[in-house]
Amino acid sequence: MARDLRVVTCSAPVNIAVIKYWGKRDEVLILPVNSSLSVTLNQTQLRAITSVATSKSFTRDRMWLNGQEEDINHPRLQNALREIRKLARQEEGDHFHICSENNFPTAAGLASSAAGYACLVYSLSRLLQVDSELSAIARQGSGSACRSMYGGFVKWEKGDRPDGRDSIAVQVATETHWPEMHALILVVNAGKKIVSSTVGMETTVHTSQLLKYRSEHVVPHRMVQMEKAIKERNFEEFAKITMQDSNQFHAVCLDTDPPIFYLNDISKRIIQLITIYNSFDGNIKAAYTFDAGPNAVLYTLSSQVSQLLALVSHFFPPDHTSESPFVIGLSQTTPVIDKKLAEQFQMEPIPGSLKYIIHTKVGGGPCQLNDPKQCLLNGDGLPNRELHHTSPM
Ligand code: DP6
Repeated sequence: MARDLRVVTCSAPVNIAVIKYWGKRDEVLILPVNSSLSVTLNQTQLRAITSVATSKSFTRDRMWLNGQEEDINHPRLQNALREIRKLARQEEGDHFHICSENNFPTAAGLASSAAGYACLVYSLSRLLQVDSELSAIARQGSGSACRSMYGGFVKWEKGDRPDGRDSIAVQVATETHWPEMHALILVVNAGKKIVSSTVGMETTVHTSQLLKYRSEHVVPHRMVQMEKAIKERNFEEFAKITMQDSNQFHAVCLDTDPPIFYLNDISKRIIQLITIYNSFDGNIKAAYTFDAGPNAVLYTLSSQVSQLLALVSHFFPPDHTSESPFVIGLSQTTPVIDKKLAEQFQMEPIPGSLKYIIHTKVGGGPCQLNDPKQCLLNGDGLPNRELHHTSPM
């Protein structure tokens, strides 16, 4: 038992961009070529949880991620630790033990690094009792992590300074601003390993002319339009820009040499489904967006959720053999589709193409968890193996 052990446990959310970050102008400081904007998702369904501890008895920094000890010398981890130490003016001799877990499986292919780094930086800031521009530190772990430092709708201002001090996240609207907004995460059954964001965007920066056009002539205006749409709760405008920006991001990937393909045939079918759905009565009722992988995130309003879930489950039904729940999160049952509506799509269902759907909403930023039962470290500052959150809630 380490007598002087001090430990803090916090949780942090996942965010999904509606204006994408893709391309760095500084690889070390992680400074982007364009600003971006995202929606923070509710932590009940998706979150990282991290316990950080310090004690004079620790002889070195150590980190465990989802039950496995990780290399503490990873440069990005070192950057985050160095910056937070600098901020706290912490003595060299004090070491940290860090234990982090996600409440969703890594295999889901959802960006876990954003929540992970946001959670690490937030937890250390609570442990060391420092309060400053923490998003600039989280950014140095993983770019998109800076946006997970706030709840609601968050923009990451690209900034202009070479030292990156103005490249920070700013909340555009709180998590209660647009209560009707829902998100459905369609986890696609994909086998092949894909190019990581970090590697992919580096290649894009060196080879794509479209990226230059996008960052100089498209994103600045889109950021203004998107912020306005969110503030006015204008869903049609929000959805239109979200889909345009996802499409342009994937066009930029195709413009990369060698080209990068993140969307697979199922992703393209999902785009087709949403396009037809939106064209029925001329009203945009749902928006799709895709990150560096085939999974889709659909944004829609409360009034449409049930119909959209029914549609998606009809055209991308679970495999007959699957026994695990198909819809996880806010909806526990799959609504049934109106036959007449289904016929109008002229699409064939593809069973087994989705692993599952996570139904969630907009959520809050990182928070400290004061219940000792949620602590991932034991009295010696070592992983408390009984706690292992790997199934999505
Ligand atoms: C496609 O933040 O994962 O999800 O800064 O290299 O760690 P690094 O990249 P990362 O990139 C995310 C890219 C994206 C778009 C977005 O979230 O804005």
